[in-house]
Amino acid sequence: MFRKWLFEEVAVVTVVLLVGWGPAYAANAAVQEESGVNRMIIYTDKGTERISRNIYGHFSEHLGGCIYGGFWVGEDSPIPNTRGIRNDVVEALKKIKIPVLRWPGGCFADEYHWKEGIGPRDKRPTMINTHWGMVRETNAFGTHEFLDLCEQIGCEAYVAGNVGSGTVEEMQDWVEYMTFDGDSEMANLRRMNGRDKPWRVRYFGVGNENWGCGGNMSPGSYADLYNRFQTYVRSYSGNRIVKIACGPGSENYPWMTTVMERARRNMDAISLHHYVRGTGDWTRKGSATKFDESEWFALMKNTLTIYPLLENNIEIMNRFDPRGRIGLFVDEWGTWWDAEPGTNPSFLYQQNTLRDAVSAGIFLNAFNKYCYRVRMANIAQTINVLQAMILTKGEKMIVTPTYHVFEMYKVHHDATLLPIELECSDYRFGNDSISALNVSASKDNSGRIHISLCNLDPGNTAEVVCALEGAEPKEISGRVLTAEAMIAHNTFENPQVVKPVTFNNFRLEGNILTTTLPTKSVVVLEIE
Ligand code: AHR
Repeated sequence: MFRKWLFEEVAVVTVVLLVGWGPAYAANAAVQEESGVNRMIIYTDKGTERISRNIYGHFSEHLGGCIYGGFWVGEDSPIPNTRGIRNDVVEALKKIKIPVLRWPGGCFADEYHWKEGIGPRDKRPTMINTHWGMVRETNAFGTHEFLDLCEQIGCEAYVAGNVGSGTVEEMQDWVEYMTFDGDSEMANLRRMNGRDKPWRVRYFGVGNENWGCGGNMSPGSYADLYNRFQTYVRSYSGNRIVKIACGPGSENYPWMTTVMERARRNMDAISLHHYVRGTGDWTRKGSATKFDESEWFALMKNTLTIYPLLENNIEIMNRFDPRGRIGLFVDEWGTWWDAEPGTNPSFLYQQNTLRDAVSAGIFLNAFNKYCYRVRMANIAQTINVLQAMILTKGEKMIVTPTYHVFEMYKVHHDATLLPIELECSDYRFGNDSISALNVSASKDNSGRIHISLCNLDPGNTAEVVCALEGAEPKEISGRVLTAEAMIAHNTFENPQVVKPVTFNNFRLEGNILTTTLPTKSVVVLEIE
């Protein structure tokens, strides 16, 4: 059976389709019927929407080893650092061009009191991190350190404010402290603490998961609080703040509906969180590295739920905001497995295999597809927590298969989304089946076309015949991320098991591209 996905609203009739595909397609048509060749059309001159680079954003929380040991080692550490921030980590993140970093949580955001994290480090009060292991938080990494980190990486800052246990005044003061250039109590306090000029803080979240760890509120009471808190989140000194309301977790559509209904006039964006795993059970999420094909299939199937989830949430947003002013920020997403054996379960440390990489490829293709509304996404979390880009152990640092997907997909940053039509075969497992292929495509400023393709099937390669409508392609190159085993992952002993390599299993005849994707792979093609 073939699945047909119309990736964008493009009127296509079969006659046009056949003419557009030309003789090479016609020659291939018979083959397709027999052996299940996958067909695709990319409308290379019909793109209208820009894929915001912020879709490739990240999230870091005071949780386990994300901040301490991950980003922060302190100035006196033997691990090479700049003002306490690890140099190896900054270099790795610069390579994937991370556009925006969200901090300090997560659940932690709604118990964080920012004034405890400024001033001389040895005088900062400590606190108990009640969400994540009841460990003592030293506050050594605070506002100055986070904004220094963003400047070192060269990314935008996204600060999440405290609604659950904080006050309006505290939130107002924080924004003034970070961004006011004039003569004020907060701006002068910042100067006293060593920073004369304000920072640029483009994104500010008013609470996090306030339906749960952020205060267990009803959507109506949160919407009212949001309206009140956000009033005092000012845009000072030319720093125009994008205000983000707390949106739903996964399918909590009533939350999206009520918050949009009651607070839409005061927000620039609303968040959505979506985590996926191999089972339907939060108490038994499954192992990150020890799984069979049933759990591979389950993750692929769960990951594909991002498509209806985005559609349904966008449909609600369209009802209240038909002109599309408000962005949907998927500011937490990714895989969530049982913590790595031998580690503190509250620290959410997990390994990261090829399976996570393919899942990330699908998520990112989905965000690209809905980029007219999805204007930011932040994978959880950057280092040592959940679907991390980076794992550290003392002075050692490795990058994960998911990191490589972000590196390969960076060609989509700020490029124009291209409409795609795809007819693909099924990936069958037991009595169940899903689409075997997942794709998105874009054209960058210099006219280069990039196609990112995921083959979800661990047992079958996928031949794809693709018509590049409206293009006169001359050159093609590619890279692939795959491995022998589904469970392949990088370790401190063996850090290069999963990494992208050159891919050249394709041919170009006129504007018809034919390629065969390896099993369980992520491929990015560049066409000039
Ligand atoms: O990313 C881990 C946690 O997941 C975050 O703190 C919270 O927002 C979500 O439930």
